[in-house]
Amino acid sequence: MAEFKEAPAGAPLGEQLLTWVDNRFPASKLYKEHMSEYYAPKNFNFWYIFGSLALLVLVIQIVTGIFLVMHYKPDAALAFASVEYIMRDVPWGWLIRYMHSTGASAFFVVVYLHMFRGLLYGSYRKPRELVWIFGCGIFLCLMAEAFMGYLLPWGQMSYWGAQVIVNLFAAVPFVGPDLALLIRGDYVVSDATLNRFFSFHVIAVPLVLLGLVVAHIIALHEVGSNNPDGVEIKGPNAPKDAQGHPLDGIPFHPYYTVHDIFAVSLFLMVFTAIIFFAPELGGYFLEYNNFIPADPLKTPLHIAPVWYFTPFYSMLRATTDDLVTVLCLITGLAAVLAFLKGRFPGAAKVGILVAAVVLIALLKTFDAKFWGVVVMGAAVIILFFLPWLDRSPVKSIRYRPDWHKWMYVVFVLFFFVLGYLGIKPPSDIGTFIAQVGTLFYFGFFLLMPFWSQIGKPKPVPERVTFHAH
Ligand code: HEM
Repeated sequence: MAEFKEAPAGAPLGEQLLTWVDNRFPASKLYKEHMSEYYAPKNFNFWYIFGSLALLVLVIQIVTGIFLVMHYKPDAALAFASVEYIMRDVPWGWLIRYMHSTGASAFFVVVYLHMFRGLLYGSYRKPRELVWIFGCGIFLCLMAEAFMGYLLPWGQMSYWGAQVIVNLFAAVPFVGPDLALLIRGDYVVSDATLNRFFSFHVIAVPLVLLGLVVAHIIALHEVGSNNPDGVEIKGPNAPKDAQGHPLDGIPFHPYYTVHDIFAVSLFLMVFTAIIFFAPELGGYFLEYNNFIPADPLKTPLHIAPVWYFTPFYSMLRATTDDLVTVLCLITGLAAVLAFLKGRFPGAAKVGILVAAVVLIALLKTFDAKFWGVVVMGAAVIILFFLPWLDRSPVKSIRYRPDWHKWMYVVFVLFFFVLGYLGIKPPSDIGTFIAQVGTLFYFGFFLLMPFWSQIGKPKPVPERVTFHAH
């Protein structure tokens, strides 16, 4: 047990109380470690506000969620009406509900930008691999949370969206139908499904999410933040003052708390403008079909997930028999190239050929629908491996060859195009573009070990670049 400290005689009551607490719980120590003595690089730019904004939205979602649960009824016969009751009769219920529904989309906007910042500045690279991996876990949980939450209002889109997505699991070979049955708890989406999704949405997933967010921040504060230059400010060779604090760092509090408060006010302006003036945001945040109660006997003409899922949904729809054939060709070609040109031992080369033959056989054996599910899942799972896929000698995009920037531009464009196509009903040309986009998405990551090393990086400065303003 650590020695008890004494507050100086005559110290203010607050100080005495804090000393009492500190002797029993490391309150001041935690505050110093994570706020007043957490040294963050002094060259953060606006990309660095999205972590704090994600925390804010997380809190908004939890608080509004708690109030929604007070009036919501997780029962297929009552759910839709209970949401209408919240909207019309519960005092301020409409505000709480719109904050929660807008918060869901805001969460994804903020998190997508936060992830893109990581990509831009190589924030996932050593020593921040675990920060990134916890982040990817958070992203998976967010997707599960949003998907299950969307069933709860029990509108047409809630119902049919869940029906489509859960049916996908039925395409898994051998165990698929049983798996889909397990998820639904019934042969169709029904009251049993609503109850289990409610329980996961309200308790299970948020618990995991919160745990992961805590782990994410602990891991980040263990290794220190990256910055737009990708220069380490806390490394053994980094310049430090007499107390050992990095010369290129400033305490998170008050310097970045002030930055973040400014960002929060801007964010709240946009957030409240949407809530008060356009809560459905043209059908993107709340789909019009979801104002119609779920009807298991009436399939809507066009079923589309909410915008934040559509890039991945597009990849699923793009996986047709034709794309599977292209994948077979690519696999074959890559294996032959590795065999002829690869610098591996002979046994490994034979192994690669055998693996390619097995993969092609599997691709041709199972239905394209199943591979669509695999592609959609793989598009998220591949993010976990990013720290080991990127082999560029420099971290930040600032010092990479210019054509790397163009790779990122095309990547983002395709991500938007895939997102757009996922909202629209399928068409021949749309499917073709989505197939090209899907191939680019996977090519971007899978070929990164090669392309990220090509080209001459610009010289990286010894210290971070900072212009006082
Ligand atoms: C609920 C969701 C999330 C919350 C609350 C959250 C919170 C934070 C906070 C507060 C920071 C420090 C401030 C900043 O650098 O912006 C941070 C940094 C970071 N986050 Fe997240 N995050 C979330 C999701 C994610 C996701 C999904 C990823 C990636 C897949 C991710 C990757 C990172 C990385 C790599 C850093 C370090 C950035 C750097 O130092 O340059 N985070 N996060």
